[in-house]
Amino acid sequence: MAQLIDGKKISAELLDNVALEVADFKKMHGIAPSLAVVLVGDDPASQVYVRNKIQRANQVGIRSIEHRLAADVTQSELNDLVDELNWNPEVHGILVQLPLPAHLNEEDIVNAIDPCKDVDGFHPLNVAALALGNPKLVPCTPQGSMMMLTQTLGDLTGKHAVVIGRSDIVGKPMAALLLQSNCTVTMVHSRTRDIEALCRQADILVAAVGKPELVKASWVKPGATVIDVGINVTLIDGVRKLVGDVDFADVEKVAGAITPVPGGVGPMTIANLLQNTLKAAHVQMF
Ligand code: GUN
Repeated sequence: MAQLIDGKKISAELLDNVALEVADFKKMHGIAPSLAVVLVGDDPASQVYVRNKIQRANQVGIRSIEHRLAADVTQSELNDLVDELNWNPEVHGILVQLPLPAHLNEEDIVNAIDPCKDVDGFHPLNVAALALGNPKLVPCTPQGSMMMLTQTLGDLTGKHAVVIGRSDIVGKPMAALLLQSNCTVTMVHSRTRDIEALCRQADILVAAVGKPELVKASWVKPGATVIDVGINVTLIDGVRKLVGDVDFADVEKVAGAITPVPGGVGPMTIANLLQNTLKAAHVQMF
């Protein structure tokens, strides 16, 4: 049976560390690092994510300011809010929860965020910095996934990593980080031929596609490390259940190590968001 990679435990250690550094920051600067979270509309999943982020921020001593906007807010009203947060010296991090309602242009909003306050790492300047091998603010989920990999495997040099999914939020930055850690990286996606055969070559398999239990044991090389980024709500016998992109019960029989859902990558994402907020705050103090 595979070793379980415990995201709750690893993230708790990271959060303890962030809390200590936040306390130092407050002593040094007389103010708390602060994070503005913008939530547009009433998407239930986004509401849960935002609530968790704010709760954790408060636990480590980061001041969080929630801005809730109606689903029919205009692009220019949202832009005005982002501008105001960009200029406010008491705000160090800005997170606009995605997805936005369809009438809003996500790209324009992400581009409007000050790159120094872009704690999601989605702004083109932060994306470029990562691609060029000089990362500044790095997307939280891939960063958290890398921490789990290095805690489990140590040095990743020379390992073959296969990333399933090519999203801007996870797949692409994950591939960039793995490459920076000297992995040989393959990206596979919906148009890839014979995904299974490519996945079976992976020493490290990262699933980030949003398809419930897509990855089966037959896709996994015995002993491989499997990181499951998926969070899918499914109905099993009429009961709502959270499952990943990996068929956990099947894959744990062949993998060397595997992250569970829930309790795997999810808590790592939030811990990294708060670490990014602290980092952004530090940079803005000088
Ligand atoms: N929606 C789903 N994941 C994320 C994330 O990491 N950041 C933001 N802003 N929105 C999301």
